Amino acid sequence: MARDLIVSPSLLCADFAHLAREVEALEAAGCQWLHFDCMDGHFTDQVTYGQIVAKALRDLTDLFFDCHLMFTNPEKHLEYFADAGADGISIHHEVTDQPAEMLQRIRDLGCKANLTVNPDTPIAALEPLLPYADVVMIMGVFPGYAGQSYMPETTGRIQELRSMIDSGGHETLIEVDGGVNASTAEQVIRAGADVVVSGSFLFEHPGGYAEAVRFFKNIAAQGG
Ligand code: DX5
Ligand code: ZN
Repeated sequence: MARDLIVSPSLLCADFAHLAREVEALEAAGCQWLHFDCMDGHFTDQVTYGQIVAKALRDLTDLFFDCHLMFTNPEKHLEYFADAGADGISIHHEVTDQPAEMLQRIRDLGCKANLTVNPDTPIAALEPLLPYADVVMIMGVFPGYAGQSYMPETTGRIQELRSMIDSGGHETLIEVDGGVNASTAEQVIRAGADVVVSGSFLFEHPGGYAEAVRFFKNIAAQGG
């Protein structure tokens, strides 16, 4: 069945000297979301940026701000992101003993709650949490850097989550982040992704951003 696919470009790969121009170009290219890769230097090796970048861009666009918090202590930062204009906030399953409470806090702040899992977190652990999650994001790589290779076992994990969501009658969207490119997009979308994050593939596409977006959307339109 043909599905509408959401493309969420990872700003990690954008030109930070000209972010406003980048946002304009991504919107014109047909992206519906903007993916903010926020890294704390503890959960990940490097530090990137926090909510201040989302806040600076908020007035420029109505695109959905998809804020990926690669933090060991996201609970301290949820309000800051909500105040900065985040539409969705993702927290990692690996950093909390109370994922349902944390997802509920995100919803209470008026944002979509996104539960994200690293490649070594079992999908089965997510079943009781689906009612609290507007989105589950499956990492195709271990977080930390753009341009890493997709871990092939991710495809089976997407399928497992797709059937868990469908059989349970949940409305949770599946987002896939890391290593989605020309050679992996088809399996990611066919396995059941609703949202794909794209960093290096989209920003380095020789045909430009719009062609990269069309590439993803065509796969979904052909029956994904
Ligand atoms: C990885 C980040 C991803 C990544 C995507 O830590 O969460 O969003 O930058 O970049 P690509 O598409 O190049 O893997
Ligand atoms: Zn990300």
